[in-house]
Amino acid sequence: MNRSTPLTALQVMQDAPVIPVIVLNDVAHAVPLARALLAGGIRMLEVTLRTPQALACIETIARDVPDAVVGAGTVRSKGDAQAAARAGAHFAVSPGYTRAVGQACRDVGLALLPGVATGGEIMAACEDGFTQLKFFPAVHAGGVAMLKAWAGPFYDVKFCPTGGITLQNAPDFLALPNVVCVGGSWLVPAGTAEQGDWGRVTRLASETEHLKKIAL
Ligand code: 3PG
Repeated sequence: MNRSTPLTALQVMQDAPVIPVIVLNDVAHAVPLARALLAGGIRMLEVTLRTPQALACIETIARDVPDAVVGAGTVRSKGDAQAAARAGAHFAVSPGYTRAVGQACRDVGLALLPGVATGGEIMAACEDGFTQLKFFPAVHAGGVAMLKAWAGPFYDVKFCPTGGITLQNAPDFLALPNVVCVGGSWLVPAGTAEQGDWGRVTRLASETEHLKKIAL
């Protein structure tokens, strides 16, 4: 992917039907994990800022796996956004929306998928110019029915539902016109990296191939 120009949030969402939500505890796992996901056809990778090693993992993937497009998840503050950009992230995902995070991502040139769970949060994000949003936690906060209800008043907003999404329920979400992709941790189950089971990660990523047809 040509990354001389900054990504847009829509480009982040349209690259694949699933954005993997990744938790890494060891920098040594970063490159093999990114390569395993790439081998399964997924290159847009969200590494969550939930562990002390997360920023180093982003830096390593950005440097050593040029075919991957690494982003930072769990961006909750201006400092997170700045650190993510310094580490080489190409996009950011936040669990909720604040103006400070929105502005910080703009300032450092990071495409942002802000998290929302209510109409008021969608309005706040839209007011600041963000219309491609993460719906989080999707299944717990109303799931498919909520997205159908939002399609009326928020006709110009596109969503990436995340939280409780599985290979089994992903098609129900991806079939909705206001859903571009979904996010989920199921592609990298807890412990997989520690076990070095990269083949499993590639298999799980490959299983999402058929979702492309539904997401179109
Ligand atoms: C998260 O931020 O933890 C994501 O929403 C992942 O949720 P999941 O584990 O239900 O896929």
